[in-house]
Amino acid sequence: MLQAKAQKLTPTQRANALLQRMTLAEKIGQLNQLSADFATGPITPQGNKQQLARSGQLGSMLNLMGASRTRQLQELAMQSRLKIPLLFGQDVIHGYRTTFPIPLAEAASWDLPAMQQTARIAATEASAAGIHWIFAPMVDISRDPRWGRVMEGAGEDPYLGSLIAAARVKGFQGSGLGHTNAVMACVKHFAAYGAAIGGRDYNGADVSQRSLWETYLPPFKAAVDAGAATVMNGFNDINGIPATANALLQNNILKGQWKFSGFVVSDWASISELIVHGYAKDHKQAAQQAILAGNDMDMESSAYQNHLATLVKQGQVPMATVNNAVRRILIKKFEMGLFDDPYKFCNPQNEEAQYDNAAHQQFARTMAAKSIVMLKNDTLQSQPLLPLKKTQKIALIGPLVTSQRDNLGFWSFNFDDDSTRLVSLYQGMQNALGSNAPLLYAKGCNLNDADTSGFAQAIATALLADVVVMQVGEARDMSGEAKSKSNLQLPGVQEALIKAIHRTGKPMVVLISAGRPLIFNWTAKHIPAILYTWWLGMQAGNAMADVLFGQHNPSARLPITFPRAEGQIPIYYSHHNTGRPAANDSDLNYVSAYIDLPNSPQYAFGYGLGYGTVTYAKPVVSNTTPKGNNTVDVSVSIAYNGPSPRTETVQLYIHDKTASVVRPVKELRKFQQLTLLPNQQRVVTFKLTTEDLKFYNHKLQYVWEPGAFNIMVGPSSDKVQTVTVNWGK
Ligand code: BGC
Repeated sequence: MLQAKAQKLTPTQRANALLQRMTLAEKIGQLNQLSADFATGPITPQGNKQQLARSGQLGSMLNLMGASRTRQLQELAMQSRLKIPLLFGQDVIHGYRTTFPIPLAEAASWDLPAMQQTARIAATEASAAGIHWIFAPMVDISRDPRWGRVMEGAGEDPYLGSLIAAARVKGFQGSGLGHTNAVMACVKHFAAYGAAIGGRDYNGADVSQRSLWETYLPPFKAAVDAGAATVMNGFNDINGIPATANALLQNNILKGQWKFSGFVVSDWASISELIVHGYAKDHKQAAQQAILAGNDMDMESSAYQNHLATLVKQGQVPMATVNNAVRRILIKKFEMGLFDDPYKFCNPQNEEAQYDNAAHQQFARTMAAKSIVMLKNDTLQSQPLLPLKKTQKIALIGPLVTSQRDNLGFWSFNFDDDSTRLVSLYQGMQNALGSNAPLLYAKGCNLNDADTSGFAQAIATALLADVVVMQVGEARDMSGEAKSKSNLQLPGVQEALIKAIHRTGKPMVVLISAGRPLIFNWTAKHIPAILYTWWLGMQAGNAMADVLFGQHNPSARLPITFPRAEGQIPIYYSHHNTGRPAANDSDLNYVSAYIDLPNSPQYAFGYGLGYGTVTYAKPVVSNTTPKGNNTVDVSVSIAYNGPSPRTETVQLYIHDKTASVVRPVKELRKFQQLTLLPNQQRVVTFKLTTEDLKFYNHKLQYVWEPGAFNIMVGPSSDKVQTVTVNWGK
């Protein structure tokens, strides 16, 4: 009867009623999150976590996985006075049991429904293992491939990044919190963590208000608008104020201006790190700064646990502030339905059913194929080198060819060596060719040392083949958290091995598997076919074979610019023109250029090839002198000539030619993906309104200004055709 009455109340009403019954210690318990024994950072000794759960001094635990382990701890929480359920959180960054391509690779697909689907599958599997809360998506824009966590985001562009952020949030949260396979998303790291100076992880970010609003904040706003339940702040300081204690970001912008109704969790011990930053003198002050700045839950530093009670009693933190933080957390626990059934995610049968789900693995293969970017496919003897023919004698060479784990990437679990799940390139090629096919193999070298003793055998193997396919790149822990690099060349002697094989004169395809854009200028120039294969997840080998043999027509496009040299970084397509732009890569006449390096990147944002050719006509606009709230149709006719259906990503960029603040030379404003059949011609139409012309003006107001705009359409940011419109008031 009492319960039936409670059911009719809203989560907020139920949370308020519960708050009134809570002691200060119980409230602080809700703000306390600790890690189980598995750790992604230095563990602080915390005493007995079971006892904390039983006494209501723990609100959440991370890194505890499995229906039965989470149930055991939840049972202890159910022995506490108020029986408030725990939240179990986990970094599920690119899949749980099924490992998908890393987020940067998936971003290369530009396929929003597919990315939503991998998030959905990850949520389904994780929730079946007792997890309520996923610390993803990471929506940090980054224009610095030295930063190891570039692998975890969606690349350099705020528009593409915003769409992907929203798609992933919707995927994780499914049809809404309260469903057993819907988990809470956690958008991170608020904010500007990807702007780490020098690309060195955890470093400060020195960002202007303009770049904060134009570049770094939009994906967070999009994620919040998509209903993200939680937000994580970051390790970095922003213009001198650590993100964790940043009231402007958390209180004013996120909870104020954006009306975010979920809760904010710190990053791993980032409250204690306020001391190391030089912002707090001790843990007590750190706790005070964080909670006053809008950080609701304390991950792993115990600063709230140890000091909040005193701070409240001494009047240094208002009780209302603590109540607000606790209320936000309780509301989510009610919305998740955990008060009604604290064990609803702890169902061993469901966990078992999701453990090796064939449909999920199949989708991992599809997603991996969609993520492969074809960078080059030259014509040799009057036809493109790729796709390969199954009748060719193929030599697989390189340190990654038989590797299973490296394809998985940084944030992956479940390393069993079952080759039906973790598919190396070798295995994938064998699956495609049948086990009797004559597949030659030599490792050639290791991933990252100076040993060239395997070169001779690799050369001898190449000489026996019609075509050589090499897989080179990074080991799974060379990009990721705390994996910044100053040198982005292919590690070790891998490019030397490519050169040595090239000297055999055999046709060569090079696959580069890595967590970031690498630099491989010699390869880019001399090798006729190159695929960027990132870290593609557990089905990597099958997906690579699908592309190599033409089962899948490659369609991915770079979500981040590939530099020619580290010295160009940061390099991104949406730069300013300057007063002295270089006319071309050899123009050095007192222009904005390097005297020892072209300005252009090795590969531009939006670039990627497929089998066959797509020809773009010049865009046509329905009105070259629109007014006010007119809608302008921008149409472009595209014609496809190729062997098999191909997905094309038609990109539209704009440039505001004269404005109250200088605008980038190009900004992605729209794109459309469509599948073209061989010899098909299609007209793609975009509808533009003044919404698409808006930007932050000199007063940081989001407005449009009448005037001339270049509208550019093409298959890549560096291959566009332009039409100009004069948009009047
Ligand atoms: C990372 C977060 C992650 C957290 C919990 C931190 O080191 O920065 O992204 O969610 O650990 O594992």
